[in-house]
Amino acid sequence: MAVLPVSPEYIPDPERYQESLYRRCGRSGIQLPLISLGLWHNFSGVDIFENCRAMVRTAFNLGITHFDLANNYGPPPGSAEETFGQILAKDFRPYRDEMIISTKAGYYMWPGPYGEWGSRKYLVSSLDQSLKRLGLDYVDIFYHHRPDPNTPLEESMSALDHIVRSGKALYAGISNYGPIETQQAIRILERLGTPCLIHQPKYNMFERWIEPELLNVLNEEGVGCIVFSPLAQGMLTNRYLNGIPEDSRAAKPSFLKPEHLTDPKMDQVRRLNQIALDHGLSLAQLAINWTLRNPVVTSALIGASRPSQIEEIVAGTQKIDFSKEVLNQIEMILAGSS
Ligand SMILES: NC(=O)c1ccc[n+]([C@@H]2O[C@H](COP(=O)([O-])OP(=O)(O)OC[C@H]3O[C@@H](n4cnc5c(N)ncnc54)[C@H](OP(=O)(O)O)[C@@H]3O)[C@@H](O)[C@H]2O)c1
Repeated sequence: MAVLPVSPEYIPDPERYQESLYRRCGRSGIQLPLISLGLWHNFSGVDIFENCRAMVRTAFNLGITHFDLANNYGPPPGSAEETFGQILAKDFRPYRDEMIISTKAGYYMWPGPYGEWGSRKYLVSSLDQSLKRLGLDYVDIFYHHRPDPNTPLEESMSALDHIVRSGKALYAGISNYGPIETQQAIRILERLGTPCLIHQPKYNMFERWIEPELLNVLNEEGVGCIVFSPLAQGMLTNRYLNGIPEDSRAAKPSFLKPEHLTDPKMDQVRRLNQIALDHGLSLAQLAINWTLRNPVVTSALIGASRPSQIEEIVAGTQKIDFSKEVLNQIEMILAGSS
């Protein structure tokens, strides 16, 4: 992929907030952009820095104020935070107060018993490491990345409360928690005086585990919801319609494997693609709008490998009013019936 040269001085588009769309995050004071950018893939120590920088600039120019990281994003783990830290230092220092930057801890990060899961020891020291890599004094949101069956929830949540009180994060969030654990976590955080701002679950046309229980809990509790992998890692785009491109995620070491692109799956993708085309959209645009059709979903957290993908998605956001008929057509395809 050719990477266009990036101009040395970054002056954000002055019109960036004119057309941009935001949703309130639960019952909090924070609004998030309908599209947020995640740095799980394509921002590591092995990726081209100027492409990473161009993607963040493109996103910010389009009114994307929210950037999502985790301690382990790389490879190597930690390198996505380092890349983003360099981009911040070069281009975004004057705009820090216009950005919502999140990171997380929960998955394996360093050897020994304190390098993963949910102890206070791990969560607090991991955030300290993340802040160094990012070159920041604080992040806006700090998440517990996954529930830990062996640590009392009280301990993990009181670590989040401590982190917020210490000023190293402004808000607390949880990710990958089921509905019951979510309810419990919300209660504990409420009692501690640090409300849970947001939940980050996986959600896309192919993976709908949050319907309806988790969404109901978040709605009733006034907690925001930012959904990750809304494009099913690229499956719900035109990327794989004609095979597996060499520069695509499925061709690289990742959780998206060529064997996931089965004939029945690709048949569904093609039929969904036709619905998108019938409405003047790309499949990526249709898939993102579909995740945002429920107002309980605050933001769709996309990944990208090039600036044009971000531009395409933002250009298509809220460009379809889903009729019952279209939603039914999609349901039929997802259910595997004709
Ligand atoms: N909390 C958690 O446990 C968790 C787990 C996973 C992810 N996340 C967060 O969610 C973010 C997004 O996850 P994800 O990267 O899996 O999201 P995704 O949006 O489902 O997939 C992103 C991939 O889709 C392809 N794509 C994007 N826009 C496209 C377009 N317009 N046309 C064609 N292809 C397009 C690109 O694939 P190519 O690279 O092939 O071009 C891109 O890398 C992560 O960065 C991370 O912040 C959180």
